[in-house]
Amino acid sequence: MWLAEIMKAIGFTEFGGPDVLHEVELPTPEPGADEVRVRVLAAAVSPTDTLRRSGARAADMRKEGTPYVVGMDVAGVLEKVGPGTRTDLVAGEHVMGIVLPRGTHGGYAEQVVLPADSVVRVPAGTDDVAASTLPMNGLTARMTLDLLGLRAGQTIAVTGAAGVYGGYVVQLARSEGLRVVADAAPGDRDLVRELGADIVVDRGDDVSEHIRRAVPDGVDGLADGAVLDDKVIGAVRDGGRIATVRSYTGPSERGITYHPVMVREYATERARLDALRGLVEQGRLTLRVAGTYPAAQAAEAHRRLAAGGTRGRLVLTFGG
Ligand SMILES: NC(=O)c1ccc[n+]([C@@H]2O[C@H](COP(=O)([O-])OP(=O)(O)OC[C@H]3O[C@@H](n4cnc5c(N)ncnc54)[C@H](OP(=O)(O)O)[C@@H]3O)[C@@H](O)[C@H]2O)c1
Repeated sequence: MWLAEIMKAIGFTEFGGPDVLHEVELPTPEPGADEVRVRVLAAAVSPTDTLRRSGARAADMRKEGTPYVVGMDVAGVLEKVGPGTRTDLVAGEHVMGIVLPRGTHGGYAEQVVLPADSVVRVPAGTDDVAASTLPMNGLTARMTLDLLGLRAGQTIAVTGAAGVYGGYVVQLARSEGLRVVADAAPGDRDLVRELGADIVVDRGDDVSEHIRRAVPDGVDGLADGAVLDDKVIGAVRDGGRIATVRSYTGPSERGITYHPVMVREYATERARLDALRGLVEQGRLTLRVAGTYPAAQAAEAHRRLAAGGTRGRLVLTFGG
C-alpha cells in the first residue's frame, strides 16, 4: 500500500482565540483534472480568517472536516499540474492564487490544490510575499467595481480606504477614470491620497455627512470596506448603488440599491486575476505588506490583525 505524503499546515479543531491555531499534519493533496498544486511560500492573513477561526461561521463550518485550515490567498511555486489540465503555467513557475477554504482545505498549508483558473503568475518584479496579498482582495475590488457599474467621470466613495480591499478599490477606480472620494483617519490621509483619492474626508460614523459636503448631489456608487452598513446611505445620490462586503442589504431609500460582494463568485475569474497582475506590473496597483511571520507564529499574526491599525497585509511564510 502507498502511504500518502504528509504536509504541514496551520489549523484548529476548536473555535476560539488566536491560540487555537497550531501546526497540523495532513495528507498532501493531489491535483485532479483542471487543477494544479502550489507549494505555498506565502499565505496572506485576512479578516475573514480570524472570523472563521473565532467561530462566527461555526454553523456552516461544522459540516466540513477538521482540522480546519483557513487562508484565502497564496503565492509560491507551481508544483504539479493535474492530469488533463489545460494551462499555460508550467511546474516551477512562481504563481499566486485565491483559495476558497473548506474544512482541511485552506491557504495556511505547505501545499494547496486549486482550480487552474484560480492561479496566475506572480507579477513581474514582485516576490511571493507581496504577490500573496493580491488575489482575494484584488478580485473583491474588481467585483465591487463590476457590480457598481460606474462610467468614467462618475464618482465613487470608498470607506475603509486605507485597508487592503479599500485601497485596491481606490486604485482600480482611479485607473478606470472615476472620481474617488475616500475616508481616512488623520494618520492615513497621505496614504489614501497617494493611492489616488481625489478627495479625502474624515472617517467615522458621520462619514456620510463629510462625503455629502464634498459631493453635494451624493456619490454615484459607494464601496463600504469599513462595514458601516446603514451609516453610508446618506452619502449616495438617489438611484445610486452601494457595494457591501459583509452581506448587508438594507433597508433602502430613494431608489438606492445594495450589491453584496461575494468574492467566491470570482474565484475562477482567471482573466480578471491576470488583469490585476498586469496592473501591478504597470504600477497602477500597489501591493502592501505590513509584516511577515513564519507560519508557526500564525497566532501572533491573528492577534496583530485583530488589534486593528495594520496597513497592508500580514503574511505567513512557509518553507523558510
Ligand atoms: N465579501 C467578500 O467577498 C469579502 C472579500 C474580501 C474582504 N471582505 C471584507 O472586507 C472588509 C475589509 O477587508 P480588508 O482586508 O480590507 O481589511 P483591512 O485591511 O483590515 O481594512 C479595513 C479598514 O477599515 C478601517 N475601519 C475599521 N473600522 C472603521 C470605521 N468604523 N470607519 C472607518 N474605517 C474603519 C480599518 O481601520 P483600523 O485598522 O484603524 O481599524 C482598516 O483601515 C472586511 O470586513 C473583510 O471581511 C469581504
